[in-house]
Amino acid sequence: MAEPHTTTHFGFKEIPIGEKVRQVGRIFDSVAENYDLMNDLMSLGIHRLWKRHAIGRLRVRPGSHTLDVAGGTGDLARLTLERMGGRGRVTLCDINAAMLEAGRVKLADQGLVAGIDWVQGNAEHLPFPDNTFHAATIGFGIRNVTRIETAFREMVRVLRPGGQLLCLEFSHLSLTALQPLYDTYSFKVLPELGHWVAKDRDAYQYLAESIRRFPDQKTLCALLDGLGLHRVGYHNLSAGIAAVHTGFKV
Ligand SMILES: C[S@@+](CC[C@H](N)C(=O)[O-])C[C@H]1O[C@@H](n2cnc3c(N)ncnc32)[C@H](O)[C@@H]1O
Repeated sequence: MAEPHTTTHFGFKEIPIGEKVRQVGRIFDSVAENYDLMNDLMSLGIHRLWKRHAIGRLRVRPGSHTLDVAGGTGDLARLTLERMGGRGRVTLCDINAAMLEAGRVKLADQGLVAGIDWVQGNAEHLPFPDNTFHAATIGFGIRNVTRIETAFREMVRVLRPGGQLLCLEFSHLSLTALQPLYDTYSFKVLPELGHWVAKDRDAYQYLAESIRRFPDQKTLCALLDGLGLHRVGYHNLSAGIAAVHTGFKV
């Protein structure tokens, strides 16, 4: 249904709700080629530790079938496969063709050609039947989705009963003394790096702004609780720069 008068945020801007998916799409079209390099530069490689830690919390076993929503260039999917001892399946779903292509090429270069199904689709309308997956992950993706609750609801729908939802996302600092330093880094250094490396300053300005607008740890827990998940909890990474939230479908 059309939502002509509704707006949402895109970083610090307010835009018509139907515009967000297009603007987010433009960003990932633009940065896809340099996405992994930028992640390494921006975080000095720490995003790899966060991702490994997050997947270490995933309750999967050999033979499990998991879904990675907004899976981009496949980091979480590869780690999940590893965690299943290489004997499982990951369906990676992302809305952006350029990100999927960059991921396919990267993982093929790493010698990983089996075990991952690459599907183009919107997190808000996942193209999978109810009760399909043993676990559903989303890493640094939910912040970019227009209707966060709709996307989480979709993840819950496609999980099997007892299945785990896991969300890795930027969050809010638990050590407030670090905030001025973090703000300088986010709003001065990141956009410059984006300009010089990915040739897109605005994309990395959006990254910094969207992180500040994203709900904090406790608000996200309340949202997941409200969807009927049980044993909802979170774990801060690097003093809350990122956090892993998990919960289980009843
Ligand atoms: C910051 S990247 C994260 C990629 C990967 N999960 C990782 O951790 O490196 C965000 C991803 O979300 C995808 N995305 C944004 N909106 C989406 C939507 N509505 N449905 C599915 N994917 C979406 C983008 O295309 C992009 O690949």
